[in-house]
This record gives sequence, C-alpha cells and structure tokens, in this order.
Amino acid sequence: MKFFLDTANVDEIRTANDWGLLDGVTTNPSLAAKEGREFRDVAAEILDIMGDRPVSLETVSTDAEGMMHEARILSSWAPNVVAKIPLLPDGLKAVQVLREEGIKTNVTLVFSTNQGLLAAKAGATYVSPFIGRLDDRAHDGMELVRELMHINDIYGYDTEVITASVRHPRHVVEAALAGADIVTVPFAVMKKLFNHPLTDVGLENFLADWETVPDKDDIFRDELVPA
Ligand code: E4P
Repeated sequence: MKFFLDTANVDEIRTANDWGLLDGVTTNPSLAAKEGREFRDVAAEILDIMGDRPVSLETVSTDAEGMMHEARILSSWAPNVVAKIPLLPDGLKAVQVLREEGIKTNVTLVFSTNQGLLAAKAGATYVSPFIGRLDDRAHDGMELVRELMHINDIYGYDTEVITASVRHPRHVVEAALAGADIVTVPFAVMKKLFNHPLTDVGLENFLADWETVPDKDDIFRDELVPA
C-alpha cells in the first residue's frame, strides 16, 4: 500500500520524507489555509521535496471550464502535480478532458460507491473516498473503500483508490486489509503508526541488559573490514 501525507505543512512533509516511506502528498484548500502562507510558495516547496512523486493540489471552481483552467495552471507548475477535482457532474466532465490532455486527476469529496464508480468511469487517476467524515455520521466509511476496490477488480478500472479523511491508526490497518491502493494520512496519525509501548519497554530493557555485557565497549569499536 502506498502512503501519502495529507498536509500542506512543509516541515511535516520534510520529516516524513526523511523516514523514506512517503509515496505522495495530498492537500486541500482547508489545509492550505491553515499554513497562512502564499500557496504558490508552499506548493513549490512541496513539489521540490517530492520530486517525481504525486502531489494533489485542489481546484476551487465549480464549473467544468473553471476547473479545467485551474487544473492546467496547477499542473504547469511541475510534472508531478495531480489536479484535485470535486465530485460534481462538471468535475467529471473536466476529468475526461484533462485525461485526454495527459493531466492527472484526483476526484475528491467522494462519499458513496456510485460517486466512486462514476469517477473511475470518467477516467480519474485517483479517487478519494472520505472515510472519517462518513464514520463521523455513523456510517462504515471503510465499506466504501472495500466496494471501490472490488469494482476495480471486476471492471479493471485503473483509477487508484486513496483512503482519505483518515482519523486514527486503525483506519490505516483497515485500508490495508481492504487492499486500498493508497492511504493518505495526517502527520499526527503517521507518527502514531511507529508507536507501541511494548517497543519502548523492550528497547529500554535490551539497552539496560547490554550495559552488563563485559566487552560491550569493544564490540562496535572496530572499523568494518571488507570481506
Ligand atoms: C483528502 O484528500 C482530504 O484532503 C482529506 O483526507 C480530508 O480529511 P478530513 O476529513 O480530515 O478533513
């Protein structure tokens, strides 16, 4: 499963990138607003860090012409830009034209299987079902991911499913078990994936026990001799 970071915060992206586990970034207008900086500068820094890995930047028009115009501008910034397009009839019209032009799209604000099916049929590069926001309304958000993956299996759509609106580490487990192509996670959730109290206690014990090994100071002192 690919891991994207769901943020517009450059420091978070830099840190997660250093972990070597980052396959892409997704942003949205709310995440952009949170940074309180010129979005062009923020996007340029993110694109630079990510190199050839996909970075979703969202359009804000609600008509097809406007979305296409914005998608063309955003995608002119770098070859790894993915234009994020809201799931509206006009959005899916735009997706079809943009696909013909070779512009990658991520259809966002997807809350039902039929919406996801339409996005795949329109030829979206990615589709983003919002799991957490569905869970907030007492739905089983992950069922949407399972159904979209199943539909891709049946029909062979090449639209990759991004599990989005992730709230906690269990969502990541469930996305993996559902066979999701991608999960996009907030930085706080990504950090939690590393943690387990038994790892901390276990390491503490190992290090304390090592202190009692008689030649502990000699073992790693030597230079590595090539075989
Ligand atoms: C997806 O691409 C969205 O940016 C994001 O996952 C929305 O998450 P939220 O419901 O936490 O705002």
